[in-house]
Amino acid sequence: MSVHPHVQGFFDAATNTISYIVKDPGSDACAIVDSVMDIDYAAGRITYDHADELIRQIEDQGLRLEWIIETHVHADHLSAAPYIQDKLGGRIGIGSKIMVVQDTFGKVFNEGTEFQRDGSQFDALFEDGDTYRVGEMDCFAMYTPGHTPACMVHVMGDAAFVGDTLFMPDGGSARADFPGGDAGQLYDSIQKVLALPDDMRLFMCHDYGPNGRDIAWETSVGDEKAHNIHVGGGKTRDEFVKFRTERDATLAMPKLIIPSLQVNMRAGKVPTDEHGNPVLKVPLNGL
Ligand SMILES: [Fe+2]
Repeated sequence: MSVHPHVQGFFDAATNTISYIVKDPGSDACAIVDSVMDIDYAAGRITYDHADELIRQIEDQGLRLEWIIETHVHADHLSAAPYIQDKLGGRIGIGSKIMVVQDTFGKVFNEGTEFQRDGSQFDALFEDGDTYRVGEMDCFAMYTPGHTPACMVHVMGDAAFVGDTLFMPDGGSARADFPGGDAGQLYDSIQKVLALPDDMRLFMCHDYGPNGRDIAWETSVGDEKAHNIHVGGGKTRDEFVKFRTERDATLAMPKLIIPSLQVNMRAGKVPTDEHGNPVLKVPLNGL
C-alpha cells in the first residue's frame, strides 16, 4: 500500500473500455491491465490501433513489460494480449477459474477437443491471494466472482484494478447474468473490494459517462463505499440481488459478446479453421 505506481489509462471509445499501463515507481518494469484489440465485426476485420498506442507508450518511456493481466474473460471487447506479448514480451495472466469459463463456452461454441479447457493458453493462472511482482512492486490477485466465474481484482501497490466488479460510484456495478454469473456472489466480491483501505485508488475497466458526465475511471474505496449507487451507503445483499436481477433482465447482449468470448477464452488468440485461417463462429440460439 505504501508503493504508489504510476498509472496511465487509455480509453477505447468503441467499447468504453479502459486499458492501463502500470509502472513500478522503483524500476522500469510495468504491467498492462485489460488491453483491447479493435474489431469491425460487420466487416470481419481486426486491427491494432489501441494496442499499438500502448506499445508505443511503453517503448517511448523505455519500460520493460513484465505482465499482461486480464481481470476476466471480457464479453464486450477483444483482448490484444498475444499481439502485445509478441512485440514486448511479458506473461499473460488470468484467474484460474478461466477453466470454468472455457468449459461453459467451449460447449456454446461447439469447440472440438483441440480447444484446451485447462487454461494452458495463458502463462499464469492466479488463485485467490496469489502474489507476484512488477519490478520491485508487490502485487496480489483477489478472487471476485459474480460478474463472471473467473473475475479477479488485481492490487498493485496502492492501486486496485477492479475489472467489472465495480463501476464508478455513479455507474454502480456490472451485470451478473452471464453464464456462471451470480448477483449474490457479486455483492460479496464487492464487499471484499470495499474492505481494502479507504484511500486505495480504484481503476475501472469500463465507464459509460452516465448522465452526460465526462468519461472517468479512477475513484477510491472510500468514495465507492459512500457513494456507489448500487452498493454504497450500506445497501444490503438482499436489496442488491433484487435490484441487480431485475435490471439484468432488461439488458440486451453486448454487441461483441460472440467474437469476444471466442477470442478471450483463448487468451486473445483468434481461432482458426482447419486450414489455419482466422475465423469466428456465430452459434445460433446458443447464448
Ligand atoms: Fe466484463
